[in-house]
Amino acid sequence: MNEEQRKQANQIKQVDPTDIKSDADSNLERIQHIDSDELIGKYFQATYEPPNLKKAKKRKREDVKVHYDFSIPEEMKSIGKDKKFLIRTYGCQMNAHDTEVMAGLLTDMGYESTDDTNEADVILLNTCAIRENAENKVFGEIGHLKPLKLEKPDLIVGVCGCMSQEESVVNKILKKHPFIDMIFGTHNIHRLPSLLKEAMFSKAMVMEVWSKEGDIIENLPKVRKGKIKGWVNIMYGCDKFCTYCIVPYTRGKERSRMPEDIIQEVRQLAAAGYKEITLLGQNVNAYGKDLDMKYGLGDLMEEISKIDIPRVRFTTSHPRDFDDRLIEVLSKGGNLLDHIHLPVQSGSSEVLRVMARRYTREEYLKLVDKIRKAMPNTTLTTDIIVGFPNESDEQFEETMTLMEEVGFESAYTYIYSPREGTPSAKWEDNIPMEVKKERLQRLNALVNKQSAEAMQKYEGQTVKVLVEGESKKNPDVLSGYTERNKMVNFKAPKSVIGKIIDVKITKAKTWSLDGELVKEAVEVN
Ligand code: 5AD
Ligand code: SF4
Repeated sequence: MNEEQRKQANQIKQVDPTDIKSDADSNLERIQHIDSDELIGKYFQATYEPPNLKKAKKRKREDVKVHYDFSIPEEMKSIGKDKKFLIRTYGCQMNAHDTEVMAGLLTDMGYESTDDTNEADVILLNTCAIRENAENKVFGEIGHLKPLKLEKPDLIVGVCGCMSQEESVVNKILKKHPFIDMIFGTHNIHRLPSLLKEAMFSKAMVMEVWSKEGDIIENLPKVRKGKIKGWVNIMYGCDKFCTYCIVPYTRGKERSRMPEDIIQEVRQLAAAGYKEITLLGQNVNAYGKDLDMKYGLGDLMEEISKIDIPRVRFTTSHPRDFDDRLIEVLSKGGNLLDHIHLPVQSGSSEVLRVMARRYTREEYLKLVDKIRKAMPNTTLTTDIIVGFPNESDEQFEETMTLMEEVGFESAYTYIYSPREGTPSAKWEDNIPMEVKKERLQRLNALVNKQSAEAMQKYEGQTVKVLVEGESKKNPDVLSGYTERNKMVNFKAPKSVIGKIIDVKITKAKTWSLDGELVKEAVEVN
């Protein structure tokens, strides 16, 4: 930003820095007369490259550098002394894990965490863009924070995560919520210390959103949410471009971490006493494709299976890249658990074709068959979208029959939500909302039925449960998960928290199991 732009930016804030309403109004007035590009250049201290969807689809393989030399600049190491931060996380496990990184960065800057918005000096909203209702929740929360910011002008409020990668969202924040102090994208997380410093010392909104994914930054600090289960990113981004999905734009192209960096992180978690890790990626089956090493997820999991950590999961899989090597490795069992989440999205080959899923119903069923032959006891779960443009009643019925044919034990089900910038958003969203809701209800009834049936089979059986802590509903009851990801509630002394123990199932419910301790709580890893 040149001197002239800086002056203009300050002019806005100098209207009355403590009166956010007049500040907002004055911004709004100006915004009505200029387009967003001009606005961004002139009035805000910003680096903003809105996602360019055409460009994103054409992206090619380029060398991604891996950096091992990250450190927090010296002058920022104690900037958060005696101050507190709060991060609200929306969306998937990837976001939850990004929050752990941001918490690590803030902790290394001297901040302490708090759950109380009134106590916080920095509030970050780590947002999700996958469906419209996820975005609405965030805008609701932004609205709630305004009075607090009015009361405490020194409070820093930041918006990050997937929504900040969307031009329309950024524009809406600029126009309607100019009290926000900073906006940064999913590729700019490691820049948090510098951005925060700028936000503290500048009166203008600080914005940094790179549309192009950056390099891979290793050794970022992390404050993990728990000490029992840990997430490990194995890759970032997605190149599948399903026609409804915003992720390839908000998260950038596929970049795999180097195997040795992943293995070292898993080893560290094992040494720290973690009992379960989940390997994370938007499309983990594409792991290694960009590395030119002829090394895929199967190879990585084989190495991880040798590490002394009791449980290893992975998510999310794409059926198209689920190869024989991976099935062979998973079938050996050990610490690789018998649960595969394999999003199908629809049971109709025609709908799958327009979704650009790159498999047919028959191919999906063939893959399921192969998996079941290799791992007869595997639990399969899935994601399904109903009400995709032009989805006919018959096509929806094909989803219902596929649900039964595969015997999914659980499914996340969604009503289609057009996302601006994705190919399907340009098509007429021609299924009436009532029809979509009715389809969702019918599908959910079937999902519940199949889940309850799967649970029923456990009655009387003894299962291994990784005990996570008190049940959310009843502090007298402990709660944990089986190898196949079934929640079990049971009474036991708190000393078993963090252990894997045998629990006998006494009652099956639709979504969980009740059980009792088998004799003494002996760890059974
Ligand atoms: N509308 C509805 N559901 C969606 N998903 C992704 N994009 C959309 C959308 N535009 C669902 C898919 C995916 C899950 C994470 O979210 O089922 O697997
Ligand atoms: Fe989105 Fe998953 Fe398709 Fe990637 S594979 S575009 S993350 S639905």
